[in-house]
Amino acid sequence: MTTTENEAGSGPGLSGPTLLGLPELPAPAFPAEVRARLDPDAAELIARYPDSRSALLPLLHLVQSAEGFVSRTGIRYCAEQLGLTTAEVTAVATFYTMYRRRPAGEYHVGVCTNTLCAVLGGDEIFAELQQHLGIGNNETTGDGAVSLEHIECNAACDYAPVVMVNWEFFDNQTPESAKDLVDQLRSGDGAQVRPTRGARLCSFKETSRILAGFPDAREGAVDESGAGGAPTLAGLRLARGETLPGTAAARRVVAPRHEDPPQDAAAAADTVADAAPGDNEGVEE
Ligand code: FES
Repeated sequence: MTTTENEAGSGPGLSGPTLLGLPELPAPAFPAEVRARLDPDAAELIARYPDSRSALLPLLHLVQSAEGFVSRTGIRYCAEQLGLTTAEVTAVATFYTMYRRRPAGEYHVGVCTNTLCAVLGGDEIFAELQQHLGIGNNETTGDGAVSLEHIECNAACDYAPVVMVNWEFFDNQTPESAKDLVDQLRSGDGAQVRPTRGARLCSFKETSRILAGFPDAREGAVDESGAGGAPTLAGLRLARGETLPGTAAARRVVAPRHEDPPQDAAAAADTVADAAPGDNEGVEE
């Protein structure tokens, strides 16, 4: 048991006995056995920084790896470790959305509903997943397997609409593929699910520990991380003056900003401009 009994069942900020609905102050400390596990890891993280308070972000991931969210107890732990006030730690934990204030499911599913993903189907995916799972935003299924959250842009717009599970990418999703995905996650076989890019999934708590800065102990997982795909590298190739497969070369060739355009590219661009006035948006002079 890693979560303080009374906290996980009561929602954020409601640990311990309450009076008139107000949370107990101060928050209860972690049980001794949890501290015995966390203390060496916290010391290792803190030692990596010249100023201990710089370790706050990894420390928040560490307590999230213990409980599946950042509880008031976790905030107290971070404050005590770093000589900060709980108000200072709370300010950071509530600023960054990767720190959850409610218990996450084993697989935390984020649906990007930022502009590009939204117009390409992200809003529809999120609405259908809510209905399919029977939960709302920031809620967890009764079996504890899946939590759902609509998230902001994850810098994967070239693969929109994007769904993330424990921060691994599932690209070019549809409502149907997303529903198949969460069904698979709930089937008990989630560890075998492979994201479009990157390593196979691990649990939200295990992911949090990796994000805290500890090695991914799964054999081969680091090598599975992969690199940028073709859509991601398209802009780079264009900037280098290359052409993209399947596109009309004369319309797509651009020159690096710091260099003169290659002779053949400039000539080709002129040809297109002559042939189709007003239709040379892909050509940079
Ligand atoms: S808008 Fe969805 S990843 Fe950028």
